[in-house]
Amino acid sequence: MTDHAIFIPDEHMRRKRDAYWTDLVGGVTGRYKTAQVQRLLEGRTLPEGSSIVDVGAGTSDLSKMVAEYGDIDSIVCLDYDDDIVQRSRAAETDSRVQWRTGDASDLAAYGSDVGAVGFFDILHEVYSFVGRSPQTGAIDHAVGRAAVEDILRAAATALAPGGVILITDDVLPEEGDTPVRVRTKTPEIAEVLHRIAREYPSRPLEIAWEDDGRTFTIPARTFITLLTQYNKPKQGDEARWAVEQMEVHEYMSASEYQAFFGDLGLTVAVDVGTPPEAGAEWAEDFEVLDGLPGFPNKRVAVLAAK
Ligand SMILES: C[S@@+](CC[C@H](N)C(=O)[O-])C[C@H]1O[C@@H](n2cnc3c(N)ncnc32)[C@H](O)[C@@H]1O
Repeated sequence: MTDHAIFIPDEHMRRKRDAYWTDLVGGVTGRYKTAQVQRLLEGRTLPEGSSIVDVGAGTSDLSKMVAEYGDIDSIVCLDYDDDIVQRSRAAETDSRVQWRTGDASDLAAYGSDVGAVGFFDILHEVYSFVGRSPQTGAIDHAVGRAAVEDILRAAATALAPGGVILITDDVLPEEGDTPVRVRTKTPEIAEVLHRIAREYPSRPLEIAWEDDGRTFTIPARTFITLLTQYNKPKQGDEARWAVEQMEVHEYMSASEYQAFFGDLGLTVAVDVGTPPEAGAEWAEDFEVLDGLPGFPNKRVAVLAAK
């Protein structure tokens, strides 16, 4: 039977640590998001002598890449998982990097002269943890979003003039709740989707099946959630699925990032796309029949400059 237990961050942290730490930055998504951030930073120089704060760092690889775009004195890698911090600190070879155990909400402590604040695939975790109902495990969109926005406002305050906020994550489609009609290419994939519908408390997928058992209609905003999650149960990756059951990765569309940072007076650039490997797997398993011209995009990178 499904684990619909009450989810708490400690449990999430433990499951994540056990499940999948090692393939995070080296894999398809890691390479894709690194290239997205490099595209956004191209031609830009970070304020001289400033610092980088990498929130939810996990690894210092991305912030070291960002540091190549300026004369950076220090890199603070912040993670609330002390186990990750201890291990990473022991293995760190770059003297500019300081590993600290702390929460994303501690950003106010960093003053107002930070050259870059990085949020690389962490904000969906803030959204999921803070937004989650302890009773049902469902994530309240408004609550999760408000938590993300509070952290982004604190990051904007911490920036030096010319400093940047950098974000990578999965992205909500602009089409919102537009119904999308989709066919699974095999009955096995339809079975995987039934399993997800049963075992995913975080966000109801609102799938309406047709009589053939293979065609369904789903809102665009949850179609992307389904596409993000289905390959773990499909591959029988139970450890990873145990983590993903507790997360929703899509909380903001590209235009919502633009509007949010625009209102804060920052200049915004976004890069939206899908790793080719993910697109190829989707096309093997699904056919989009109606409602969208093709598959929604998976990834967003955002640069917001002061
Ligand atoms: C998906 S991993 C991403 C790691 C790395 N930034 C990357 O892009 O590869 C998310 C990381 O954020 C950390 N994290 C989650 N919520 C956090 C919070 N509220 N404050 C600090 N770190 C957090 C987790 O422990 C984990 O290391």
